[in-house]
Amino acid sequence: MLCDGDGPHMHHSPILGSVPEHSPLRKPVFYGRRKGRVLPKTLYQHTLDRLKNLDVNKWRGQWPKELWLEIGFGSGEHLNQWLVQHPQRSIIGVEAFINGVIHCVQGMPESFEERCAIFSDPVQELWPSLSPSCLDGVILFFPDPWRKRRHAGRRMVQPTFLDLCAHYVKPGGVLHFASDHPGLIEHTLGILHQHPHWQYIDGARTTDSAHWPQWPAHWPSSRYRDKAVAQHIPCAFSIWQLQPI
Ligand SMILES: C[S@@+](CC[C@H](N)C(=O)[O-])C[C@H]1O[C@@H](n2cnc3c(N)ncnc32)[C@H](O)[C@@H]1O
Repeated sequence: MLCDGDGPHMHHSPILGSVPEHSPLRKPVFYGRRKGRVLPKTLYQHTLDRLKNLDVNKWRGQWPKELWLEIGFGSGEHLNQWLVQHPQRSIIGVEAFINGVIHCVQGMPESFEERCAIFSDPVQELWPSLSPSCLDGVILFFPDPWRKRRHAGRRMVQPTFLDLCAHYVKPGGVLHFASDHPGLIEHTLGILHQHPHWQYIDGARTTDSAHWPQWPAHWPSSRYRDKAVAQHIPCAFSIWQLQPI
């Protein structure tokens, strides 16, 4: 649901129904901006209408054959280009920043709606709508870096996040991660290397940028990658595969 709120966003998941009120599981799940500059009402209404065709529940019980998930797609430049490049694949795009969602939908031809679902709330609220092993891959490009050490717990990749990905990805499926922020890369690769079910396949294995391969030529770029390239900041991409559990 598009929502008007800003600031910390609490879990509404039914699976937390039995979690005690003061449990850390009840902490906010989203810390970024939900809304930017005010948008014209007609544009907003038009997007709401199109979002009805993009509701993830349209696939409940019969998931597309090759289904991917992009978390935090920003304004959707990568997602829309990905749909062009992969006419046989489908994707669920998740983005909690409403202006980004609107930009993405604006840039999407209506003919792509059949292969796309958009979830416009924090990804933590999407999981209960999915079925185990329904995904072929997860794309996590340039997640918010949360630069301060005391904010490291807000970073997307945590052991429990990787457990959830492992639950909803098929064995043999993949996780594509990219970032240009050294602290976040170190944090993320460290947690991935320690996870029992995700195995390194390709791309950046360590934080040493001298050994990072070039961005794969067939991968679309993203807005944050373009920004980093323009400033000559090295970007890491890293591919991990889910081992049979
Ligand atoms: C730094 S931007 C990167 C955008 C895009 N992936 C790119 O590479 O250009 C990170 C995005 O993740 C979104 N985001 C952060 N936490 C999220 C969450 N819990 N659920 C969904 N989106 C989230 C933010 O709103 C923001 O648009």
